Order: sequence, then structure tokens, then C-alpha cells
Amino acid sequence: MKAAFFKEHGGAEKILYDDYRDPAPEAGEVVVRVRACALNQVDMLLLDGRFPPPEGLPHVNGCEVTGMLEAVGPGVTGLERGARVILFPGLSCGRCEYCLVGQRTVCVRYGYLGAHKDGGYAELIKAPAANVLPLPETITFESGAAVPLAMLTSWHALIAQAGCRPGQTVLVQAAGSGVGSAAIQIARLCGARVITTVGSDDKIDFAKSLGADHVVNYRHQDFVEETKRWTGKRGVDIVIEHIGGDTFERSVYALTRLGTLVTIGSHDTHWGRLDLRHVYSKNLKVLGTNLGSILELRTILDHVVEGRLKPVVDRVFPLRDTRAAVQHVLDRKNKGKVVVVP
Ligand SMILES: NC(=O)c1ccc[n+]([C@@H]2O[C@H](COP(=O)([O-])OP(=O)(O)OC[C@H]3O[C@@H](n4cnc5c(N)ncnc54)[C@H](OP(=O)(O)O)[C@@H]3O)[C@@H](O)[C@H]2O)c1
Ligand SMILES: [Zn+2]
Repeated sequence: MKAAFFKEHGGAEKILYDDYRDPAPEAGEVVVRVRACALNQVDMLLLDGRFPPPEGLPHVNGCEVTGMLEAVGPGVTGLERGARVILFPGLSCGRCEYCLVGQRTVCVRYGYLGAHKDGGYAELIKAPAANVLPLPETITFESGAAVPLAMLTSWHALIAQAGCRPGQTVLVQAAGSGVGSAAIQIARLCGARVITTVGSDDKIDFAKSLGADHVVNYRHQDFVEETKRWTGKRGVDIVIEHIGGDTFERSVYALTRLGTLVTIGSHDTHWGRLDLRHVYSKNLKVLGTNLGSILELRTILDHVVEGRLKPVVDRVFPLRDTRAAVQHVLDRKNKGKVVVVP
């Protein structure tokens, strides 16, 4: 098959488009013919070596995949060749104490398709049969690819972790990101009001079109002061944070008493200082979150079918132009998700 892969760490120039080993399904696995795969910031960390692929190089990135079932391995039943499918990206053992209590996203052997295994920047991908869900007819392959990591993570962060409720206020960092563009919509679906940040003015109208009530360009305005002003000095109930460093540190100051900050990622730096005085004196919660469950993914797909949530596809590139797609994300130009199609 053809795939876009890398043999060395670096920037977009390290992505090669060439022949790559065909995946063969083993017991309990399927092979899917990829029709669309979305890019994520974690792909950039894998590429530049800040999060080197656990199975080594060469490696094929790509965690968010839709396609058609191509082949099934021994013991797989109930899945038809040619079916339209979407892949749940989380890998877990099903046997450790965390899997046994139903918390598979913190499995001691946890992994992601596209990180711990080769991913979807390819014509074919191998995955556990248990990770396959039908892709509803009304969702295009490209739109579907914008859902299983970015939207699912934001859903789990807001609904399961932060318990977002009608009437609350939410600060979503980076409206243009996959995670941010999903979080704005989900917070609105919960009946919350949303303030969000952007790094360039051309993302302001985009953020408003997703339902953001107030947009702050943090290059000209202080997002903490703007959040305080927007909430009448009170602060927000929830912050969805996924940048790390100063953004994490300052996000805590945007919270009101009893507020919750959910940290999803750290692509600026893996470190962030925490002003403990604010945490204990205001009874704040600082929670981590990782992906979500396959059941939550099914629920999100229902919302997409009903038109209550909209996967946000910024640009679609041919797989052979993955290098340009990666550069587009590295340049922080994306408004929502960037997708490659074989
Ligand atoms: N825990 C999980 O399960 C999980 C799942 C998915 C994603 N994540 C994490 O969530 C974060 C967002 O991922 P994504 O794929 O949604 O991102 P993305 O679509 O690539 O967007 C990232 C955006 O963040 C903003 N940004 C602010 N500071 C930045 C910096 N120092 N470097 C680069 N971008 C910066 C940029 O927008 P502006 O220029 O407009 O500020 C950029 O466009 C990542 O940290 C990712 O690893 C975690
Ligand atoms: Zn486990």
C-alpha cells in the first residue's frame, strides 16, 4: 500500500509518501480501507520526537480514521466486508484493574491507534475488531474523521469530567484547534455560555460561528482580564485547557470559586505551574482527562446525525500531500480539523 510515514524525527519535510508494508489482520483484528484520516496535534509531537512512537520508526501517524471494512482476521464475526466504519482510537488490555472497573482510558497498557500502532495516513489500517463502529450513512467519511479523537476528548472533558450544566460559563482555549472547535459546540449543547481564545483575528468569526459568545485574541488582549470582564469579575465555572505552560498557569486565574479546570494536553510545554493559594482558597478542581469511551463516541455520532453537533473540517488534502497538510497544522492555520484522503 501507499502511506505517508516518517523514518526520522523533524518537521513536515520528514514525511515521506511511498510504499509501506501492508497490514495483515491477526485474530480479533480487522483491516480497514482508509477513506479519511484527520490530523491531530499529537501527530506533531510524534513527528518531532517529543512523544516518540513507542514501537519505533518508521511510523505512520493518524488517530482518527473512517473507511470501509477490507478484511477480518480469525475469530471476527458480525462485521461485513465493505461496511462503512469509524474507528475508536483507544487501545486497552481489558484485564488490568482499571479496565475491569470500566476505566479503559487509564489502562496500564493504554495506547492509541496512530501512536502506539501505525495509524491512518495510509491506504489501509489494522485495528482491533472491538474498536469498529458503523459510520452512519448521513456522515461523510471526511466529517466522520473529525470526530473520534478531538470531539470525543472534548465531550468526555466537559460532560464526564467537568459535569457541564445549563447556565454555566466555560472558557475554551484555542477555538481553532480540533479540541477547541468541538468543545465550544459541546458546551453550547449543554446550555453553557462560552468565551474562547484565538491567536489570529481571522479565527474570530469562525469561533462565533461555532457558538462562542465572546472571543479573545490573546496576542492583543489578556484572556484572564477579558474573562473577568465578560463574567462581571466572577470568573468562569469551567476551563478547557490543552496548551500547557503559561496558558495553563493563567487559566486557573480565570476560574470562579468551586470552578473546574480540565487539562487535556500540553503541546506548548509538558509543564505548568499551579498557584496553590487559588486552588485551596476557592475549592477549585484541576482534573486530567484522556480520550473517552466507545459508548460516548456512539452518543456523539447520534448528535452529529441529528445535527446538534457539527464536525468541523477545515481542509481536505490528498494523502500524497500529507506533508502540506502537516505544515498547515504546524503553521497554526487550521480552523477545525485537517483531513487527508487516499
Ligand atoms: N488527552 C487527550 O485525550 C487528547 C486528545 C486530543 C488532543 N489532545 C491534546 O489537545 C491539544 C490540542 O490538540 P488539537 O489536535 O485539537 O490541536 P490543533 O487542532 O493542532 O490546534 C492547536 C492550536 O493551539 C493553539 N496554540 C496555542 N499555543 C500553541 C503552541 N505553543 N503551539 C502550537 N499551538 C498552539 C494554536 O491556535 P492559535 O494560534 O489560534 O492559538 C493551534 O492552532 C494538544 O495538546 C493535544 O495533544 C489530548
Ligand atoms: Zn487494561
